[in-house]
Amino acid sequence: MNENSHERLLIIDFGSQVTQLIARRVREAGVFCEICPYNLVEAGQLSKSSSTKAIILSGSPASVRDADRPGPPIEIYALGVPILGICYGQQVMIDQLGGRVEGSGAREFGRAAVIANQQANSKPIFDGLFSGNSEQVWMSHGDKVTALAPGFEAIAHSPNSPMAVVADFERNFYGVQFHPEVHHTTNGARLIGNFIDLSGFNRDWGMASFRREAILRIRRQVGKGRVICALSGGVDSSVTAVLLHEALPGQVTCIFVDHGLLREGEAEQVVSMFRDHYNISLLHAEEAGLFLDGIDGISDPEEKRKTIGRLFIDVFSNRAKSLGEIKFLAQGTLYPDVIESVSVSGGPSATIKSHHNVGGLPEAMDLELVEPLRELFKDEVRQLGKTLGLPGEFVNRHPFPGPGLAIRCLGTVTGEKLKALRKADSIYIEQIRQHGLYNQIWQAFAVLLPVRSVGVMGDDRTYDRTCVLRAVTSVDGMTADYFRFSHDFLSETSNRIVNEVPGINRVVYDITSKPPGTIEWE
Ligand code: XMP
Repeated sequence: MNENSHERLLIIDFGSQVTQLIARRVREAGVFCEICPYNLVEAGQLSKSSSTKAIILSGSPASVRDADRPGPPIEIYALGVPILGICYGQQVMIDQLGGRVEGSGAREFGRAAVIANQQANSKPIFDGLFSGNSEQVWMSHGDKVTALAPGFEAIAHSPNSPMAVVADFERNFYGVQFHPEVHHTTNGARLIGNFIDLSGFNRDWGMASFRREAILRIRRQVGKGRVICALSGGVDSSVTAVLLHEALPGQVTCIFVDHGLLREGEAEQVVSMFRDHYNISLLHAEEAGLFLDGIDGISDPEEKRKTIGRLFIDVFSNRAKSLGEIKFLAQGTLYPDVIESVSVSGGPSATIKSHHNVGGLPEAMDLELVEPLRELFKDEVRQLGKTLGLPGEFVNRHPFPGPGLAIRCLGTVTGEKLKALRKADSIYIEQIRQHGLYNQIWQAFAVLLPVRSVGVMGDDRTYDRTCVLRAVTSVDGMTADYFRFSHDFLSETSNRIVNEVPGINRVVYDITSKPPGTIEWE
């Protein structure tokens, strides 16, 4: 099997906020796809011999009427593959092919109803849609198509967009003014599925085929070389390690840098799973003292993160040296970290937080990277983990940040504060599991504040710390909303924490969404 042969759908991105959702919908339909910024499309992706079988043009915050508007390479229209333009994608396609786009008097945002034009109902692109009179869709546009390009016809309309869906059936080019990729468009996934079927895809992409192909790719890259894998105990690095072990038995060593900032029982769990269960060679670097000394007295969040990142690299490289000659470093980079998002304004986006993963290691150690998950989204990694036999309870764990509890212990970090935080966090998570809520939540954790307040326990006055409970729902961690616990759940959990954790006398619940908040507190 040629591991690069997977037929793919190319998504050309013009900077829409929801481009990643297009990729989600396409992959859920069993088709492999890649997102590529409009200005980085390569000739290879557009050659007749490429595995690109269809193209989707994304939305954009730009206007087709801007002088420097972004556009796809004109060659895509001569490739002979089906094209679907979404919102701006529709407009730019119609404009490039000779139609006209104008500003709308009325901008359309939010829910809208689209009605199929007569005789379009029976077209394959509308298969399973318009069983009622109209379809509920989500619109977000200021411009609209006002004159069709040659070969096109309007096949559906909305009150504000007479050309809400356009088609050139001869060439299989389609354009929709609304966003089929968002959940608010009731049958959006169905429409994308119809486009996929029109393009002739086999719909055979999934974690079973990914696993087979990834193993071949890893073997081809690494050959007989030795690989080290930085294991954090999180889902991504664990799945990477198990996949590598399957591809290269006996060639992989995992280094688990235990910085003493993990949750209760976590280090023991990682060691027993990898050493005992999988029999993967594991070096457990127990360095809690080094890290705690390193961040002693530091209260600035960025300085804490940078110090931990630097110490991590030191420990990791020293341990790796003791293993003899190694050429490769495996890490669990995911697709959202790889996608270069288009900044239409051209300005660099501000660093909100400097994330610590294993970034910096490859340069420091002159190692070639092996990143087998770089095409996958988080939920696909979880599925892959299950396919590889990792326990469901493990792969469904909430994400945990590289700097660990250090960024949940606000201000300076001490062993005593970590002890209280660890205990409060474990009670909180136990409560969530007992109430059957764990899998409804993207991430839940406790935070310890550096303030003290007065309380009363029995006949005694207390002057102790405050613990914040955080729980959010999210799809990808980019935006989030706070989880709506019942008051009974919150009272029960607060009671348990104040009674069972020495040093905490007050519990509060964080009801900030992201934005404007972030998920973590530092
Ligand atoms: P924020 O706090 O930026 O977090 O809203 C978004 C997601 O990223 C996780 N996070 C990290 N993950 N290294 C990581 O591997 C880090 O340094 C880091 N900081 C935040 C956070 O837990 C949430 O899931």
